[in-house]
Amino acid sequence: MKKRILTGDRPSGKLHLGHYVGSLANRVKLQDDYDQYILIADVQALTDNYENPEKVANSVRELLLDYVASGIDPEKSTIVIQSQLPAIAELTVFYLNMVSLNRVLRNPTVKAEIEQKGFGDTIPAGFAMYPVSQAADITAFEANVVPVGEDQLPMIEQTREIVRKFNNLYGETLVEPEALVGEFPRLIGLDGKAKMSKSLGNSIYLSDSPEEVNKKVMSMFTDPTRLKPTDPGHVEGNPVFIYHDAFNPNEEEVTDLKDRYVAGKVGDVEVKQKLAIAINNLLEPMRKRRSELEKNPELVNKILREGVEKARLVSGEVLEKVKKAMKIDYKF
Ligand code: TRP
Repeated sequence: MKKRILTGDRPSGKLHLGHYVGSLANRVKLQDDYDQYILIADVQALTDNYENPEKVANSVRELLLDYVASGIDPEKSTIVIQSQLPAIAELTVFYLNMVSLNRVLRNPTVKAEIEQKGFGDTIPAGFAMYPVSQAADITAFEANVVPVGEDQLPMIEQTREIVRKFNNLYGETLVEPEALVGEFPRLIGLDGKAKMSKSLGNSIYLSDSPEEVNKKVMSMFTDPTRLKPTDPGHVEGNPVFIYHDAFNPNEEEVTDLKDRYVAGKVGDVEVKQKLAIAINNLLEPMRKRRSELEKNPELVNKILREGVEKARLVSGEVLEKVKKAMKIDYKF
């Protein structure tokens, strides 16, 4: 039997190139060899967008379009809306007994998000607990592998702790998952900041037009110590070359550009033009798949309906096992 994958994203906006190299590309590869489920985590998205539910609701279809555009094939991967699976909510309640308040607040990703969102001492409990609900997402599918970006590693670690605790207390019931990080666990932003991120406004989206891509690439940060094209430049840590390594399949061209850059024999403009071409080549088939699916809303409905149906069965069975292990599988 194929091993199971569960992975997902919060529907709270468009996906960008950081998502692509960090996890989407991996999922596209893995869908042939694994039984893959991809969760549109709307319940989790509401933990920090509960005041803005239309944003979450409107992003569900957008996320599906991003998935299919990036090469995720609904015939091979099952795409699921989290709020349609009551089993996940029930599992979350049970798992909350397996974690201490201190432990959830010590989760480095949660901690960073709390800081970033400026919650101060009014942290919504639902937000602080979302890693527990993520453990429910993962275990509800008995996932062996979770392909994610680097920022999600603490979630997988916490899931593993919950699984071990549950199994110790109630007997071997849950499957302990492993994280699988993509080739580029973290993509630097267009502005050279540590991370491409929607909130930092330094992203290229999978749905960007060729013109948007050209404009954004032309505005990218390069080597700040290089004032003229004839100055010897630095390749290491230079966002344009990090992107060439990530997105330009023409290795010969990349090596040539790097050599000339270091020697002061190429300008930023040429390096960027070639990068924009490479990124547009990657995005072009995505634009095609997106626009085809956009024309067919009934197919979108069908993908979502069938995904949920299949996932309800799988997660329902796991919930039964959990209830049995906890001795609350009453029959009367
Ligand atoms: N926390 C993930 C994110 O912010 C989304 C997510 C929800 C997820 N449930 C998941 C990822 C289960 C992997 C597995 O992107």
